[in-house]
Amino acid sequence: MQASLLLTLALLGVVSANNLERRWIKIDTPAVFTPNPAFPYVWAWQHQDNSILETKKDSASDDAVARVILSGFASKANHSPVFHIRKSEVVPPSNDTSDFLSFAPYWWPNPEDPKAEWVKKDGEINPDILKLTCQAELSAMTASTRMSVTQGLLNPTDTASLAHASRQLHAWFVDPELRMKPNVNYGQVVRNADPSTWKGRFEGILSVRQLAFVPSTVELLEKIYPQWTAQDTKGVKDWFTEFLQWLLNPPFQPEENTSKNNHRTYWACQVVEYQ
Ligand SMILES: *[C@@H]1O[C@H](CO)[C@@H](O)[C@H](O)[C@H]1NC(C)=O
Ligand SMILES: *[C@@H]1O[C@H](CO)[C@@H](O)[C@H](O)[C@H]1NC(C)=O
Repeated sequence: MQASLLLTLALLGVVSANNLERRWIKIDTPAVFTPNPAFPYVWAWQHQDNSILETKKDSASDDAVARVILSGFASKANHSPVFHIRKSEVVPPSNDTSDFLSFAPYWWPNPEDPKAEWVKKDGEINPDILKLTCQAELSAMTASTRMSVTQGLLNPTDTASLAHASRQLHAWFVDPELRMKPNVNYGQVVRNADPSTWKGRFEGILSVRQLAFVPSTVELLEKIYPQWTAQDTKGVKDWFTEFLQWLLNPPFQPEENTSKNNHRTYWACQVVEYQ
């Protein structure tokens, strides 16, 4: 009985994960947000919908359902590639693929002058942003490491999940061949026809907001995974020490209204988390 209930839940977990993913895409539509097949689970996880727990209350405790879903996501995560930003086909003006690049999502070519800076249509996402992979890779890295470490915490025998998290974090922050540079000098770029002149903006800190999840993930990993060494922690900490300096002295002025909105909140949240 116990075994078949678990099996049913596992199947439901898998099906539900797909449903969540579809539901989220439906709600938030932008058809442009087709999940990247390399990490479809990330979307479901980040836009998790607690109604899944509500609907299952009759058959099992929330906790049991959550564990099944988590282990489903974690086992997919364990088979994912190593996430990093060096794969991007569009290079930043520095020509250095270790510089994180994101485009301002609401900007479109100027119909009056194709060479001019693009113009803003608030709320209208330009599907062009999908040419870039840095932010999707970052989301995948942070979401999958969080899931994997949580999975390892709940199931101490699941060292594959902890090894996965360890591999991802090492690649992103430490590995000289793969790591991201600790800055967002090319975040939320407003484009024009000449990529060599593209400049980042303060808003770029929004593109990397998920980094704020990393320090607590590492803290946990260090406690439960002996193969994660003090040297590994130092590597990640050094990265955040540098990034904190960048955040405290960003090369861009926040725009007037940015100081009172979600941009400033994400900035403050990151500054606090990286101390
Ligand atoms: C980047 O590459 C382009 C095209 O090769 C070149 O024109 C530009 O000067 C390079 N920029 C830098 C900063 O090296
Ligand atoms: C800032 O917000 C106010 C109120 O919404 C608006 O009137 C003003 O034009 C905005 N300023 C800028 C620079 O966007």
